Formats: sequence, C-alpha cells, structure tokens
Amino acid sequence: MRASDALRLAIPRLEEAGVEDAARDARVLLAHALDIGHDRLTLHLPDDMTAPQEQVYVGAVQARIARQPVAQITGRRLFWGLSFRVTRDTLDPRPDTEALVAEALSKPFQKILDLGTGTGCIVLSCLKCMPAARGVGIDISQAALVVAAGNSSDLGLEARVRFQLSDWFAAVSGTFDLIVANPPYVAAEEMPGLAPEVRDWEPHQALTPGGDGLDAYRVIARGAGARLMPGGRLLVEIGSTQGVAVAGLFAAAGLDDIRILPDMDGRDRVVAAVKPGLADSCGSA
Ligand SMILES: C[S@@+](CC[C@H](N)C(=O)[O-])C[C@H]1O[C@@H](n2cnc3c(N)ncnc32)[C@H](O)[C@@H]1O
Repeated sequence: MRASDALRLAIPRLEEAGVEDAARDARVLLAHALDIGHDRLTLHLPDDMTAPQEQVYVGAVQARIARQPVAQITGRRLFWGLSFRVTRDTLDPRPDTEALVAEALSKPFQKILDLGTGTGCIVLSCLKCMPAARGVGIDISQAALVVAAGNSSDLGLEARVRFQLSDWFAAVSGTFDLIVANPPYVAAEEMPGLAPEVRDWEPHQALTPGGDGLDAYRVIARGAGARLMPGGRLLVEIGSTQGVAVAGLFAAAGLDDIRILPDMDGRDRVVAAVKPGLADSCGSA
C-alpha cells in the first residue's frame, strides 16, 4: 500500500474514535511507522510501504483509536527543544511546563532538585541550558526513574545528574539553590472529566494526589525550607485555579517573595518563592 493511501484510510477511523486532531495524529504516526522526521512525510507519501512499516502503522493507529496518547505510541516527546523518551510509566511532558523551565532559567543556579521528575524533562532541560550546574531528580516511581536516567544519557547529561527513589523529600539530603516540582495536582473529583488519553493511559500517581489536589504542595511547602539554601528559589507548577491556595501554603511555610506566574496562554501556571536569607540564588555566601 502507498503511504498516502494508508494515511487516507486512517484519518476517518481516528475521527470516528473521537480523536481531536485526527489528520495531524495520522501523519505523526505515519512518520513514526516510516521512521522518518515528520517534516519529511509529504516527500514520502507516494512511496510504497514495506510490510513491517504497514504493520507498525496499523498497530499505531489501533492504539490511537484506543486513545493511547501519541507520545506513548511513538515513544518520544519534544520538550524545550529536546527529545525525551516517554512510556506508560511517565507523564507525557506538557508545553505548559516549559513556563516553569523558563522561570528556572531566568537566574543562574548551581544545584537543582526536581521533585517528581517523571521523564526528567524539567531537570534535564534546565541542566542543558546551565552548563556548570548539577542536579538531582527524585520520583516515587522506579520505572519513571529508569526512563529519566535513559533520557539523561541520550542528552549527554548523565555526569551532572543523579536520579533517586524518594517520597518527596524523604530520601533527599543536602541543600539546593533551586527546587522545582510539577507534582500531581488534579483534584479527585476532576479525574472522571479528564480526556481518555490522560485518565486511562497516564499513571494515576502522576496526575492526582487525591482529595483537593493540594496535598503534594502541602508536603513540598513543609519540607522545602530544610533543603533550600538561604536565598534559594522554589518553583512549582500549578493547575490554573490553584495559585492563591499554593501561594498561601508557601507563605505559611515562611517563604518570601511569592509570585504567581502565567504560562504562554496567560493562565496561572507557576508559583515561585524564595527562602529568606542573605545569599542570592547563585549560592554566594
Ligand atoms: C505531574 S508528574 C510530573 C512529571 C515531570 N516532572 C513532568 O513535568 O513532566 C508528577 C510526578 O510526581 C511523581 N510523584 C507522585 N507522588 C510522588 C511522591 N510521593 N514522591 C515523589 N514523586 C511523586 C509521579 O510519579 C510523577 O512522575
């Protein structure tokens, strides 16, 4: 079968399954099956597909019909201009999270701690842009940590980052001039309303801490002071309605200079705070 015919047949099937942008996904999956860059697909549409390519495409379209996220099917996601491996054990990195990375990189830092690292996308993107810095990524999921470690090797960062199993701060030692986190923050009652791609395919412990969605922030607010250097920064991603509540938790924990920052779409996405003290965020005494 020609690639163009495979594409033409796949699009209505994806539409019928309720896939939002069926044409785009059909093209991304076809490029994946042909093992070519998405930008080169048009060039190859007239080509006949090999049997193995057809087999990969059929499987990929079938998985998408079952609403598996595209990144889990292709195994890759571009984030902060870098390619990350994604599996069913990791959250698919979101463009919204790039707002957190941009804020992290707005000042120099030397030692970064990433709580709930998943694919490692936050700490690895930050380290890629801060060549003298070192980092630690922790997660409660050993399977996610394996993916993060693989991503650090793929990006040539394995000498500057360490990944460790930990329940938030429980197994973390030392102090940091930057702590970042994109914790699970979906409230229990919001879970049924999520898109099937998220609700049925992404790890639950990456999405929700249960209850009102704020429990991870409570633990992070309580523990950050002991792990931040004086003047060190804490940055967390939030759901767009959680800014005031999370800012309140940080204020109650004695943190200073609390700001709620928007993402590219203008929605509240990051809460930033600083540990009071004399040193600046570069860690100078
Ligand atoms: C929203 S995902 C974020 C993943 C990644 N940092 C990103 O931005 O794409 C939250 C992550 O927190 C981890 N997590 C959940 N509960 C945790 C806990 N008690 N301690 C440490 N990590 C936890 C999950 O396994 C998941 O990888």
